Amino acid sequence: MAGRASPWPLGLLIVLLTLTASPQLSLSKDADVLLKFKDALAGGDAALRDWVKGTTPCNGKVRLWTGVICDGGGNVHGLQLQNMKLSGELSIDALVDLPALRTLSFTNNDLEGPIPDITKLPALKNIYLSNNNFSGEIDGGLFNKLRSLKNVSLSSNQFTGPIPTSLVGLTKLLELKLDDNKFEGPIPDLRQPSLKLVNVSYNTLEGPIPAGLSWMNPSLFEGNKNLCGPPLDVPCRKPSSKKKPSPLLIVVIIVIAIGVLLAIIGAIMFMRRRHHEQIESGVLSPSKTKKIDPSEADKLEQISVESRGAGNKVAEEEHGKLMFVKEGVQSFELHDLLKASAEVLGCGNFGSSYKAVLFDGPAVVVKRFNNMNAVEREDFQEHMRRLGRLSHPHLLPLMAYYYRKEEKLLVTDFIPKGSLAHMLHGRNGSNLPPVDWPTRLKIVKGVARGLAFLYEELPMLTVPHGHLKSSNVLLDDSFEPLLTDYALEPVINRTHASQIMVAYKSPECAERGRPSRKSDVWSFGILILELLTGKFPANYLRQGRAGMDLASWVNSVVREEWTGEVFDKEMSGPKNGEGEMLKLLQIGLGCCETDVDKRWDLRMALEKIEELREKESEEEFSSYASEGDANFSKAMTDDDFSFSTNHS
Ligand SMILES: *[C@@H]1O[C@H](CO)[C@@H](O)[C@H](O)[C@H]1NC(C)=O
Ligand SMILES: *[C@@H]1O[C@H](CO)[C@@H](O)[C@H](O)[C@H]1NC(C)=O
Ligand SMILES: *[C@@H]1O[C@H](CO)[C@@H](O)[C@H](O)[C@H]1NC(C)=O
Repeated sequence: MAGRASPWPLGLLIVLLTLTASPQLSLSKDADVLLKFKDALAGGDAALRDWVKGTTPCNGKVRLWTGVICDGGGNVHGLQLQNMKLSGELSIDALVDLPALRTLSFTNNDLEGPIPDITKLPALKNIYLSNNNFSGEIDGGLFNKLRSLKNVSLSSNQFTGPIPTSLVGLTKLLELKLDDNKFEGPIPDLRQPSLKLVNVSYNTLEGPIPAGLSWMNPSLFEGNKNLCGPPLDVPCRKPSSKKKPSPLLIVVIIVIAIGVLLAIIGAIMFMRRRHHEQIESGVLSPSKTKKIDPSEADKLEQISVESRGAGNKVAEEEHGKLMFVKEGVQSFELHDLLKASAEVLGCGNFGSSYKAVLFDGPAVVVKRFNNMNAVEREDFQEHMRRLGRLSHPHLLPLMAYYYRKEEKLLVTDFIPKGSLAHMLHGRNGSNLPPVDWPTRLKIVKGVARGLAFLYEELPMLTVPHGHLKSSNVLLDDSFEPLLTDYALEPVINRTHASQIMVAYKSPECAERGRPSRKSDVWSFGILILELLTGKFPANYLRQGRAGMDLASWVNSVVREEWTGEVFDKEMSGPKNGEGEMLKLLQIGLGCCETDVDKRWDLRMALEKIEELREKESEEEFSSYASEGDANFSKAMTDDDFSFSTNHS
């Protein structure tokens, strides 16, 4: 093998090597270093038989020794010693003399003792020690000098003590796996933008999850003692103010605080009782009553006044304030709202909603949410303000919100015409005219634009809308659509979101348990099909049912026998509009594609939708008309127009 690596006799080579600093020098030196390392490694003899004196680990890029990674210059770049039954304590001191070493992997062995002293290898980029029996505490400053580290894996060992805080300074860190150990205490404030994955599951960690990790999958934090804050549903207790006041002030504050505390407790107990009574008496139960009893409202207001009388700002915030996030709207107080004559609009999945007509003001819609209590007050407020800043002709703006720990109210304008669902499916017995094709097209275009705006403005949300369905598309007087209930995913309790939100009914959720960036596109596709067929997509909304959804149904009609039954019979349009309807049907099916990779992305759907017209140009129409139905069904069964529809 040595012959292959170098054409000279060994003796001559040695002479040459001592005289020059050629690459061969480090080659041979690498071999010596590795042999020294192997000698100190229990189990190394059996696993590393081809590490033999007189041979070289690398010939250029080609690896000649087991488990060695070579760089282009014939230097040892990494060691990959997985699954080799290596045991005993690991000493890497010898490796200090491998100048090109960047990667070390000892995954899946029986190594034990403390973590090896990697501070001696400051150029290291990747260190993998998972699935061994390493133990003991790791020095907090271990990573101080390892500025190049990208991947650190210590999973499935017996490490104890705190997570080393020096990890915070690794600005290139991509992946950090500490799962399945016995780490304890808080997670250090990891926030480097480079981070892609931090797995700390199955340790004994506690305290708040750093904000920089709050976007990660909650499963990466599970199996710990006491972690809290996003992305977990467990809220954190606020630490008390850190400012150190003077002793006199402390006494005064304590005295006030006791008074205030009593007032709050009294008020809360009173509110609780009120609340229960209200529910029992049906005041807040949408199915039973139509009006909020003014006397109840009076009492609520009384509480608010009393607490203000106590000079208590906290209590006031606790009970009182509607927070307005939209500029330029006339603001009003919660008690105005509670006194307003109200009417139950519906009892949706999120909670019930009411229409309230203020004494001298506009009608507003108030929605009650009971499943938004996992987020901290500040985070909730911040998100609401973010929603308040969104402004687009096809979004119904959030006007105000009301925060209480166990319940939230969101206030928007009232849109008299109601929802698309109502227009499509609720006309029975009323004298609403059927919705014609040009109107439906206008609605689809508006929804697509509103959705695209959300995707652009909220890039940090996996599902920028999250709950797109026909009952959340309201129609203004000229039938322009207004999206509502959007971007609530970050504040809805996770379990509730996964049971209720439309994006969580997507096929990828059934498969992987979480939505993707294209889940909203899938909801949009279903909406398009609903618009075209006039069918209510009830099946896909049913919890836990992997049956036929609208897309599968459309597909089956299209595949089995084309009868022209797909389109809603009530959708009238210009005579040569059918080709355009067909194009929209194709877009809808492209958006409903089960396979996320094949599914269209929103930009593509938007582009195609913007191209649609109410009717085809005369030219197109005549060619279409001459081929007639044959053309139509051919387009529907074309091979590049095939869809997998199995969701189960
Ligand atoms: C791992 O190390 C601990 C001591 O630190 C020892 O009790 C245990 O038996 C070891 N486990 C294995 C599988 O070697
Ligand atoms: C670090 O891990 C990532 C993700 O597994 C991988 O793509 C990358 O190649 C690793 N980095 C290096 C330098 O090996
Ligand atoms: C995180 O760690 C747990 C426990 O070791 C493991 O089951 C899970 O697959 C890991 N997740 C990822 C994404 O690495």
